Amino acid sequence: MIHTSPSRPPDADAVAGGPGPSVTQLQATVAEAFSKRFGQPARWFVAAPGRVNLIGEHTDYNDGFVLPMAIERYVVMAAALRAEVPPAPPTARFYSAEFDEMTEFGLEQGSRPSASTSWSNYVQGVVAGFAAEAIVPPSFDAAVLSTVPVGGGLSSSAALEVATATLLEAVTGHQLPANRKALLCQKAEHEYAGVPCGIMDQFSSVFGRENALMLLDCRSQEMEYVPLASEEVTVLITNSNVSHQLDDGAYAQRRAQCHTAAAALRVGSLREATLQQLNAQRSQLEEHCYRRARHVIAEIARTTQAAAAIAAQDWKTTGQLMYESHASLRDDFEVSCPELDILVELAQEIGVEGGVYGSRMTGGGFGGCTVSLTRTADVEDIRQALLARYEARTGIRPHGFASRPARGAFVMQP
Ligand code: GLA
Repeated sequence: MIHTSPSRPPDADAVAGGPGPSVTQLQATVAEAFSKRFGQPARWFVAAPGRVNLIGEHTDYNDGFVLPMAIERYVVMAAALRAEVPPAPPTARFYSAEFDEMTEFGLEQGSRPSASTSWSNYVQGVVAGFAAEAIVPPSFDAAVLSTVPVGGGLSSSAALEVATATLLEAVTGHQLPANRKALLCQKAEHEYAGVPCGIMDQFSSVFGRENALMLLDCRSQEMEYVPLASEEVTVLITNSNVSHQLDDGAYAQRRAQCHTAAAALRVGSLREATLQQLNAQRSQLEEHCYRRARHVIAEIARTTQAAAAIAAQDWKTTGQLMYESHASLRDDFEVSCPELDILVELAQEIGVEGGVYGSRMTGGGFGGCTVSLTRTADVEDIRQALLARYEARTGIRPHGFASRPARGAFVMQP
């Protein structure tokens, strides 16, 4: 996860409630940034989306289920081989249009991560993963642009990793099997950002599909698409604008507690455990490990129930499961924060009558966004109400936008 304070693209406020600039618009912007910076036109263009998770939180590293969708917010990149005679061994220059920052590193062995949590670490981590597979492009230049809010729990870092991997595939003409590509990006996050994340974010950015959620079984790594094409409902994302910090140890600590609980229950992962088993062993477990496990076991069940409810277009049941998920993340898993709780409370106050079926925190937690399932006819009123009431209660200005399920990473035509 990138922790630099959010740098919003220039037109972000103008499109705050809508789908954001289209990939075609972003392609034009990044093309211009590229040629301005490197003095030649770009040859390759790629896009990779962020994601929002509808339900199934902190279940991926417990071999459970998750139910994310890719969102209409992207990292886009433009690239071309180096115009001047490139130095040997090959290097890449990446220019971030948002941070107005250039970074250069070797492509053969991949340079080591720097101590900072800079955006370039994610890029370098993926390059190192390709080098480890003996896929080494010739020297090239790239420009990067992102509309995925940073630090919002919408996987801006996974989008950056997957965009980098897609670019390297385009430049080398060597396509990795999709699962391997996602896992390589996850490894980059582990080794170059120091976050021991699960597989959800990178799989979402690779496998996203328009009008569909992804029911991902994190044990088998198999994906089942759950259609979400109904015009009746819209997914609303509200950013508390409180920034999370997952590498401060809290995420790793939760992960360790889950493993301790699984070991005490003598199962390989909490996916194998039932609530009955857990309750029978309660005295063997420290209270917080017990509660972490209770969240995970119940959340895995809620996720498959929600997938079935969505397939049946039963929005009320889906929404109820989302509220239950939030309460469990707040009370048992303890990864919410007052601002996220306020956003969910405000959504609950609007209720089904006002068009909110359900709402919960999404992503790793400790800040970031809530995801709400809303009636399309009411979504703009709901968005406005949430923003105004949240600001009145907290003094913090939030952002909100609706998104349809979007397509996963792809190469754009020049
Ligand atoms: C972060 C991680 C994911 C997942 C979520 C919590 O987003 O990157 O792998 O564990 O937290 O569900």
